[in-house]
Amino acid sequence: MSFSLTMGVYMKIAIDGPAGSGKSTIAKLLSKKLKFEYIDTGALYRAITYIINKEKIDIDNKKKITDIINSSVFKFNENKLYLNGFCIEKEIRKNIISQNVSEIAAQPFIRILLNKIIKSTSDNSENIIIDGRDIGTVVLPDADLKIYLDASSSVRALRRYLELIEKKEPVDLNKLEEEIIIRDYLDINRKADPLKKADDAIIIVTDDLNIRQVVDKIYNLLNNDL
Ligand code: CDP
Repeated sequence: MSFSLTMGVYMKIAIDGPAGSGKSTIAKLLSKKLKFEYIDTGALYRAITYIINKEKIDIDNKKKITDIINSSVFKFNENKLYLNGFCIEKEIRKNIISQNVSEIAAQPFIRILLNKIIKSTSDNSENIIIDGRDIGTVVLPDADLKIYLDASSSVRALRRYLELIEKKEPVDLNKLEEEIIIRDYLDINRKADPLKKADDAIIIVTDDLNIRQVVDKIYNLLNNDL
């Protein structure tokens, strides 16, 4: 396989992996470096979880949830998610949302609605990076490059711990690792679009790599290093 970033060929990049593997940090930096559009699909699942929690909607109330999703405007501006014009970035990154999001994301009807939004954005973009759990397998099965980022649960928990501490949200490291393991389990074992490495994805294990090293690795892959 070979790519050329210089020939003006449009390119779609899929990045998947479990919680805390570094997908969104890497995807943001890479999209900046390449001047590609970027969709953080996890942010959309987090947004739906935020709405359902806030409005106290029963998960079985499919009609209400469907109506809300269909009448809401989700927009990314400088990689921050806006819901109907309001930035909800702070709210959706809270640990309470992380604790509840996998149950919501397992609902097939929610996945169908969000995938419609994600796919139409992707179809209207020339160059794009999308990160999530099912991007290489379901959303962009024909992506030009598929990356699967992975790391041990202890490293991923520590990364998330440091992020939350920096945001002054106190959490217990051991509990956070347990929550990450539960979320992995739910994401891998759900019926609808589970977390799965696409057969043609390239695995990058990030335990011993810093952010810059992962970005460089992917950038080198794009520059004919495959
Ligand atoms: O940032 P982190 O890795 O913790 O997760 P995220 O990318 O923000 O995704 C939050 C959750 O949304 C995941 O644990 C999945 O349950 C769900 N998700 C999904 O089901 N499919 C996607 N394409 C992206 C996220």
